Amino acid sequence: MDITAATRLLLTGEIVAIPTETVYGLAADATSATAVAKIYAAKNRPAFNPLIAHVATLEAAQELVVLTSDALKLATSFWPGPLTIVAHKTPDCSVSDLACAGLNTLAVRIPAHPVALDILRAVNRPLAAPSANLSGKLSPTTAVHVHDIFSNTVPVVDGGSCTIGLESTIVSCTGDEPMRILRAGGIGYEDIRNIVPDITHSLCTPTSIQSPGQLTSHYAPDAPLRLNASAPDPQTEVWLGFGPDNNTTYIGENLSRTGSLEEAAARLFVMLHKLDGDKTIAVAPIPETGLGCAINDRLRRAAAPRS
Ligand code: TXA
Ligand code: MG
Repeated sequence: MDITAATRLLLTGEIVAIPTETVYGLAADATSATAVAKIYAAKNRPAFNPLIAHVATLEAAQELVVLTSDALKLATSFWPGPLTIVAHKTPDCSVSDLACAGLNTLAVRIPAHPVALDILRAVNRPLAAPSANLSGKLSPTTAVHVHDIFSNTVPVVDGGSCTIGLESTIVSCTGDEPMRILRAGGIGYEDIRNIVPDITHSLCTPTSIQSPGQLTSHYAPDAPLRLNASAPDPQTEVWLGFGPDNNTTYIGENLSRTGSLEEAAARLFVMLHKLDGDKTIAVAPIPETGLGCAINDRLRRAAAPRS
């Protein structure tokens, strides 16, 4: 579907899957509760889980939320890009209560994908867009993934493969409490701390790694995962390697033979989609630095016990 047709559908309250630099989003007019309800229904998403409002400009973001001076620093450093800011809604915020799940805060982001920006400018209103997966399942990073997930029932604007391949980093900047990172994502913790040194995070610390049982299953393929594996069991497992892989007899894939975390992030969901089948996916260790933090977060959730 092209941008003009997508714009027309969005303005009549329909849902359309659109590309962003992180993952494909399932977009709808954020100001219309009826339109937003269609997102929750299509994704089978618990209605209490709020959505991100996507806008094209900083001015549009500030019509929706109050940005503290630190939030403004992050916005001007990383927007357009894979950063989502959670902040207090303005008194005349146009986003529907359903999209905010009744909270007095709202998550906002300016995506960096040219197609997403064209659509946002054309509709000239905020678009609510969660990742275009079914709740709890793998996120899509290609138009084909989205077609597969929704069995061709949702229109998709094909913008190619997502360059970042992981969801945005979410930062809470309400001003009520110290700023903190709520979700590791496309911008590394170190890069955020360079702009706002006081920010806290508990995402990469050993305590959050020790008890995978406490993690809710999310971003999960159907196949089980075994993390930090040194090699696959050839009978029962397929291999997802990282870094130089000298054993060419393994059946599977490699996230990045050169050990690039950027490349690994961009390929993570594509490889998990591809390897998903009857066998367990054995995954090589990924360093806990830069984007490795977000990659490991997604892998741990994908490996967590399923409900
Ligand atoms: O990269 C991304 O962020 C993608 C693309 C499409 O933009 N979107 C995305 O949306 O990942 P979603 O809905 O899958 O994840 C948004 C997360 C959810 O975990 C939600 O709970 C959280 O953001 N969130 C949204 N509003 C919030 C709020 N007011 N306070 C705290 N968390 C919030
Ligand atoms: Mg999601």
